[in-house]
Amino acid sequence: MQIVKNKLFILLITILTFNGCSTTGDFSFFNSSEKSDASLFTRIGGLPVLTKIADEFIDKVATTPSTKRSFDGIKLKTLKESVVLHLCELTGGGCKYEGETMANSHRDAKITEAEFDAFVSMFRDTLNKYVSTREKNELLKILAPMKRDIVTPI
Ligand code: HEM
Repeated sequence: MQIVKNKLFILLITILTFNGCSTTGDFSFFNSSEKSDASLFTRIGGLPVLTKIADEFIDKVATTPSTKRSFDGIKLKTLKESVVLHLCELTGGGCKYEGETMANSHRDAKITEAEFDAFVSMFRDTLNKYVSTREKNELLKILAPMKRDIVTPI
């Protein structure tokens, strides 16, 4: 009788364990597929993460010798707000960026290719801290074609 009881107990534990696993498994599968279908904006973490990225990154480029030149006299708070709206719109967050075109806003600064490359390298470093590889690459891919509007040919 004791053996039968033990077997029933083991059967019960096995059923509960497998059922638990498959339920958890189903939900995590559902969540991850839902997550990968979400907009880049959502996967990045929305406005709180974009705001943090813009804040930290703009402070960095505005103080690093290889990029700081163009930021002299620029109101960084306003620039950060504008960049957040721009990134929000570009990543599908539904914001409306109403600033200047990339060509207009960068023309006077006469940005060189070396400055652009240093800027992107620092942006990549900031993204590495806050988003995963897939999101980082998607965002960099969106920004890359803007190089031709931002860099002034020599
Ligand atoms: C893909 C790369 C870049 C993107 C997406 C970008 C985006 C922007 C945006 C959205 C603005 C705000 C424009 C407005 O509010 O009207 C802006 C302004 C500015 N950007 Fe960039 N930028 C890029 C590269 C660069 C680089 C490489 C530099 C310098 C090294 C730079 C320096 C500036 C400065 C100084 C301003 C302020 C212009 C002003 O207010 O007169 N940007 N950028």
